[in-house]
Amino acid sequence: MKHLIDPTDLSKEEIDQIVALAEDIIAHRKRYQGSMAHKKLATLFYEPSTRTRLSFTAAMMELGGQVLGFSNPQASSVSKGETVQDTVRVVGCFADIIAMRHPIEGAPLVASQVSNVPIINAGDGSHSHPTQTLTDLLSIKRELGHIDDITIGFCGDLRFGRTVHSLIKALSRYNGIKVVLIAPHELRLPDYIKEDVCDKMGVTYRETESLDEAIPELDVLYMTRVQKERFLDEEEFERVKDSFVLDARRMALAKEKMVVLHPLPRVNEILTEVDDDPRAAYFRQVENGKFVRMALIVSLMDWRKDPAHAMPEPDEPIIDPTLHCTNSKCICNTESHQPQFRLAENGIMRCWYCESKVR
Ligand code: NCD
Repeated sequence: MKHLIDPTDLSKEEIDQIVALAEDIIAHRKRYQGSMAHKKLATLFYEPSTRTRLSFTAAMMELGGQVLGFSNPQASSVSKGETVQDTVRVVGCFADIIAMRHPIEGAPLVASQVSNVPIINAGDGSHSHPTQTLTDLLSIKRELGHIDDITIGFCGDLRFGRTVHSLIKALSRYNGIKVVLIAPHELRLPDYIKEDVCDKMGVTYRETESLDEAIPELDVLYMTRVQKERFLDEEEFERVKDSFVLDARRMALAKEKMVVLHPLPRVNEILTEVDDDPRAAYFRQVENGKFVRMALIVSLMDWRKDPAHAMPEPDEPIIDPTLHCTNSKCICNTESHQPQFRLAENGIMRCWYCESKVR
């Protein structure tokens, strides 16, 4: 059975297939209206969300299916101390497919290990957000006509921004991708993405602290919000919160056809004066999110019993009681899952669940 926990769970062909299906759904909406009749999607949201949860709901409704779930874990048995795995075993008795968002990294992964229905990771901590990635890829495709051969700038919180981590992973499979990382020192991209993804896959990247300097060469500018809720240190947050702001003056430095994306919500990093610029694609991107989630639900339901769409073969986990994951927001430190590790690029040991470096 296919789950979507990390963008790399999908092959490039599968990603292209989902993007193409989303485009077909946009062109022939009526054709897909009853395709999930009598099927149920459960949305288990342990963390706030507007777009992601509602777009999953709208997607399933448009396919003729039904939706159940919770958006406030305090109102469910989670507040009684139920583990993620138990919750998923129970919900799998009621629903045909599950979308889960969780503040703890690795939670959807452990859910997928026991689930009898497909699990979709709708965002886990600072780690991964693969359905936003599909949304972003569809948006790039629709705005520019292609995904290969682009220069994309990621601006803002590249450290805690899970949408950035996932999109870079997915783009690393395309040809001719150049990445410009635009962030203050405190919010730089984690090493595991630079080493295990960019270096390994041969993605050209450079880092800069100046949006003015980077913007003229970009085909896509991916703006992000500073992730206040993931900062451990309030003072550090105050120092960087207004780091990079996109305004009309900066847009004047950009290419005529540059596309501005943002997973939203924005706080102040894009001034509203940019919204009417035809290059501002972030509200069109929201709508793409619904279509791509329709395509994803249809695909995962189709692929359930198809061995050609199995999960990729995982590396052999390393179990060593002398090693510890130091990420307090990792599932192996919040629930009793045996810590497991894998050997990544350059002999670095990484946590199986959250991919942080193990010391
Ligand atoms: C993002 C998320 O939740 O990671 N939003 C989204 O899913 N559309 C980005 C964010 O919260 O800043």
